[in-house]
Amino acid sequence: MANKTVTLTDNTTGKSIELPIMDPTHGNSVVDIGKLAKEFGYFTYDPGFVSTASCKSTITFLDGERGQLYYRGYPIEQLAAKCCFLEVAYLLLNGRLPTEQELSEFQYIIGHHNMMRENLRYNLIRGFNYDAHPMAMMTGIVGSLSAFYHDNLDIYNPEHRMITSHRLIAKIPTIAAACYKHNTGQPFVFPQNHLTYCGNLLHMMFAVPCEPYHVDPVAEKALDVLFILHADHEQNASTSTVRLAGSSGANPYAAIAAGVASLWGPAHGGANEAVLKMLAEIGDVSNIDKYIARAKDKDDSFRLMGFGHRVYRNYDPRAKLIKEVCHQVLAKYGDDPHLELAMKLEDIALSDEFFIERKLYPNVDFYSGIIYKALGIPINMFTVMFAVARTVGWISHWKEMIDDPELKIGRPRQLYVGEAHRDVPDLADR
Ligand code: CMC
Repeated sequence: MANKTVTLTDNTTGKSIELPIMDPTHGNSVVDIGKLAKEFGYFTYDPGFVSTASCKSTITFLDGERGQLYYRGYPIEQLAAKCCFLEVAYLLLNGRLPTEQELSEFQYIIGHHNMMRENLRYNLIRGFNYDAHPMAMMTGIVGSLSAFYHDNLDIYNPEHRMITSHRLIAKIPTIAAACYKHNTGQPFVFPQNHLTYCGNLLHMMFAVPCEPYHVDPVAEKALDVLFILHADHEQNASTSTVRLAGSSGANPYAAIAAGVASLWGPAHGGANEAVLKMLAEIGDVSNIDKYIARAKDKDDSFRLMGFGHRVYRNYDPRAKLIKEVCHQVLAKYGDDPHLELAMKLEDIALSDEFFIERKLYPNVDFYSGIIYKALGIPINMFTVMFAVARTVGWISHWKEMIDDPELKIGRPRQLYVGEAHRDVPDLADR
């Protein structure tokens, strides 16, 4: 309906302002408060942006109440069943699925940007201590790409933006594998263009020069599905970080590095690492009740990692799909005592009034860690795997933002509650 509005009235002065309502394709309508500060003199207060739409986007939609996730209008379940990761990457970047020919051209392009500069490998990566956390290395190395691609990069040129996107999608698995090899002390393995995107990552991580390495199709498929499910998730913390960093016109590699840093936190992408640490700490099914009680105790900071989501107040649709993949992987790689523990924990939490009332369900990270562990990926690499998959989401949002005629530098306001005015006393009088 055209011209829908909301009227906001200041009950002290009686002054009112009419604010336009914007209708989405799906989801909540949005009140346009753009003129509120200028015409009414107020800012809005919304810690954690729980009620704030920061941009218009055509990339991803998720329905938290129904537990549905769409990329460019396609349900995640269909994409996971019918497409490979690079098809989904093409979709997120370009807004439509590729034809067979476009997909093979895209695979060729990604295959021809996937090497890393030798001085990065020799000087930067080797400069890190052998036990550096790979997310710390990733943050630094992705940011350092801006030193290689800056002077000749015009972010307002669509062709330059697309080349940047291709470079990032292509190089991120090579960087991730290089971090892993640095941690393990093994020689770096170069990308192989006859392999798929995920097959190549497994190869670069696990191959050694002294014997042939064959990519296991079960592992490759599991990773491919996981990467599709992790590829984008609309305006989450890391994507919003990329947008905010990039909104100043900053170098896109530096903006993506900011996204990597944001993803690292245990409330975001770091949760998959935290889940495994939590399962190890719980140790045995007999200890579950104690940990559930701790999670419910307001005076205890412990939370059940892998449970809850800011937007999904029903089941996380990605968790449903990942649970299936998890069983396929474990059927091949053998049972993991952590899975049994995870299942019991899930059962108990889902029947507990505290979790039911707050709609706390297992999220995507509850299962992804168990899969990664079964595939032989060490715990500190879990969030790196997430970062590899999410890079396409970050760069698609950055591209969309730079293209947006309404783009403004992101500049939130605040409710200042500090000292009103103080005169600086002389040092001797303090
Ligand atoms: N364990 C125990 N209680 C919880 C949990 C949890 N995992 N999550 C939320 N709660 C409680 C919380 O204490 C609060 O209770 P009350 O209303 O009595 O104060 C209520 O549920 C609402 O919590 P909230 O902190 O207001 O919710 P939020 O939307 O701000 O937080 C979250 C979302 C994901 C940060 C949070 O659920 C959490 O910390 N989960 C564990 C970490 C995790 O698994 N993160 C991965 C998210 S999915 C992957 C991704 O997209 O990055």
